Amino acid sequence: MTGLPMVRPDSMARISTPELAQAFIDEQLYALRAQIGNNKVLLALSGGVDSSVVAALLIKAIGKQLVCVHVNHGLLRKGEPEQVVEVFRHQMSANLIYVDAIDRFLTKLQDVSDPEQKRKIIGGEFIRVFEEVARKQEGIRFLAQGTIYPDIIESGGVKAHHNVGGLPDDMKFELVEPLRLLYKDEVRMVGHTLGLPDNMVYRQPFPGPGLGVRCLGAITRDRLEAVRESDAILREEFAKYGLEGKVWQYFTAVPDFKSVGVRNNTRSFEWPVIIRAVNTADAMTATIEEIPYALLNRITKRIITEVKGVNRVVYDLTPKPVGTIEWE
Ligand code: XMP
Repeated sequence: MTGLPMVRPDSMARISTPELAQAFIDEQLYALRAQIGNNKVLLALSGGVDSSVVAALLIKAIGKQLVCVHVNHGLLRKGEPEQVVEVFRHQMSANLIYVDAIDRFLTKLQDVSDPEQKRKIIGGEFIRVFEEVARKQEGIRFLAQGTIYPDIIESGGVKAHHNVGGLPDDMKFELVEPLRLLYKDEVRMVGHTLGLPDNMVYRQPFPGPGLGVRCLGAITRDRLEAVRESDAILREEFAKYGLEGKVWQYFTAVPDFKSVGVRNNTRSFEWPVIIRAVNTADAMTATIEEIPYALLNRITKRIITEVKGVNRVVYDLTPKPVGTIEWE
């Protein structure tokens, strides 16, 4: 496993500068080439920070021997699948297989309202799509994963959203986990030093099941679009206001009920959009960001005019505990 120890040694310096990140990268390029040789490596590339940094590192180390698989399950934020293709295929010339699995996921999720069941379907289907792609590849020997140190400490080396089982036994590859001893801030520093775009490297946390946990109840295409579009507006306005990177996590959720409103002098029955913006150190507890009123007003105005099917915007003031960060 890239010659990395199982536990982070006390003597390992925190990678807090581009110089230290460069030293880590140089060391890893050497170790990865030694481990992988002329073999092929498969990587599920979601576009999240961890898998993106692993991809960038491996592209540098072994180029086209890396096969990246991006599964678009339809639950990603606006612009994310396009950015994965742009950055990795076009800018970094990676070997990238893009799988449009939107219909497949949404069909499986149809009429499923139980949150745990939704998570299971999304995670399970993801493994199946990935397995199908993997089976078509010849000569894969390694599987790269964006495991980071907190994954190892907190959940025995398994990413939270991978709790749905793994690839079948006949497809057990040797693992390549170059970030397994790094904390998140170090992964970001490495990604930044590798030249990944800031909005990829410094993005806020995004749950594995994606917008599926924010489109509450049974997912429908139109309500999923309302989540995606309102989230995009929120992020755009936070960025314009200089709050990007200053607030830990912010997003919208759309419940599966409608309330009465009035539009063009007629009664409308449409969904509310819930805004959530929290600050936290470790996601175990969270406080509410005091968003300036002018900004809240602007976001509300945009959402009720630009997002189809929405007639109300509400701001969730509940800290964690007792509310969790996600609505789910
Ligand atoms: P809660 O809702 O439990 O969320 O207060 C705490 C943090 O975890 C994120 N979250 C996830 N992250 N896979 C992830 O990688 C998941 O399945 C998942 N579910 C929740 C959530 O966004 C928040 O930052």
